[in-house]
Amino acid sequence: MFLTMTTPHTIAIDGPAASGKSTLGKLLADHFGYIYFDTGVLYRALTYVALEQAVDLANAAALAKLAQTSNFEVLAPSVADGRQYTVLANGNDITWPLRAANVERNVSQVAAHPAVREALRDTQRQIGKAGHVVMAGRDIGAVIMPDAQLKIYLDASVEERAQRRAQELNARGRAISYNEVLADLTRRDAIDAANTFLAADAITITTDGRSPEDVFQAIVNLMGVEAQA
Ligand code: CDP
Repeated sequence: MFLTMTTPHTIAIDGPAASGKSTLGKLLADHFGYIYFDTGVLYRALTYVALEQAVDLANAAALAKLAQTSNFEVLAPSVADGRQYTVLANGNDITWPLRAANVERNVSQVAAHPAVREALRDTQRQIGKAGHVVMAGRDIGAVIMPDAQLKIYLDASVEERAQRRAQELNARGRAISYNEVLADLTRRDAIDAANTFLAADAITITTDGRSPEDVFQAIVNLMGVEAQA
């Protein structure tokens, strides 16, 4: 195989819920001095605002309009409470509400509407065009940044992902069992499948039993080898 790869300025990370995208994304972004952008935040923020304004979640046109008229901001953390970033919706801090059960239950339904995805597409592409970014999501390597210089598809068994997510939520004080999380992820995976893509030129990494640091090191090593080839 003939492959040249320089230090990339855009990295796409795709994969299902709780596959380790955020932790890996942050490690790679810090390593290269890039920003980390988690596109799930946009879908979650839209879901939050739609629920708040009692917009019908089956009404694609209403949701797309809401996406166009809402002002979402993803900023550096404004409070030292374990957050990776601060998210504002129309000026209100919704960083933690985005992780709440009502958003989690409904976000996949909102994200499944083609009109919603289209309404959020340009914002994501613009962030990608600016470069020096690690972007995480479901369709980043295939749809949002097809020219990304490095594409990673992170996978893990649904059992492993449920264990991680349950631990994460319990640590934040949410009383939810492993079985409840497993059921929710299984349900969400089924809805998300239509918009989750493994790009043809992506590197697939299965993260079962592997720490985020281990996966990060494997990617950095791989990039070093390819850059010298
Ligand atoms: O953190 P987790 O993987 O659970 O979810 P997320 O990345 O915050 O995304 C929440 C939901 O938004 C996903 O379950 C998808 O329904 C949707 N999403 C999407 O459709 N496309 C993306 N690029 C990112 C998220």
